[in-house]
Amino acid sequence: MNLDYAQRLLFLEWLAGLGIADIITELPAKPSASNIADITTLEDLKKIVADVDISFRDCALNMVFGVGNTKADVLLLGEAPGAEEDRQGVPFVGQSGQLLDKMLAAIGLDRSIVYITNIIPWRPPGNRTPTPQEVAMFRPYVLKHIAIVNPKIVVCLGSTATKALTQSNQSLTQSRGKWLRISELDADIIATFHPAYLLRSPSQKKEAWHDFLSINAKIREKHISVK
Ligand code: URA
Repeated sequence: MNLDYAQRLLFLEWLAGLGIADIITELPAKPSASNIADITTLEDLKKIVADVDISFRDCALNMVFGVGNTKADVLLLGEAPGAEEDRQGVPFVGQSGQLLDKMLAAIGLDRSIVYITNIIPWRPPGNRTPTPQEVAMFRPYVLKHIAIVNPKIVVCLGSTATKALTQSNQSLTQSRGKWLRISELDADIIATFHPAYLLRSPSQKKEAWHDFLSINAKIREKHISVK
């Protein structure tokens, strides 16, 4: 199903009229044939990501690609857009985004300094967690996305982003707060809690604060300018 923006809106309104709040229609996923090896710009990457044939692409209102400083030394990686991100086409603009902005501000960062993207650029139906197959489908694009921005530090927000990037099966409780590297990227990587989880479990904010202090220390160690 290839619908333009207006048709998608009509389709969503029609479903809402039937009392269906979350779209559950999914088409079978086909792997993309696009070759990403030659891509060198975010503009070109965005075009081929838009073509990746993920089952729920046509259920979303907007693709959510990335936001912030495209030459950032600090890149934050989330899971997938929620309802507000889907509406605006921008990552982390809902409630969890507001918390993320506060956490960034606490260590002197903001969206003009960092870059923010997600593993999956389309809102999964009903905000479900992307399947391992869907995550695997997008991993090469995410690696390319990060490689083009070329940050010195990558912060994985939550378990899906952490497992996708590090390809580890460790729980977030085990992996968070520790610096690591992967062979595909020239960056120091750290995992921390997803802000949506912190909204549900505020007692964990203390642990997240330790992670952000560690990020702040790494910024200083690497002489990263945050002005
Ligand atoms: N949660 C995410 O992981 N990403 C967003 O962009 C919004 C909420």
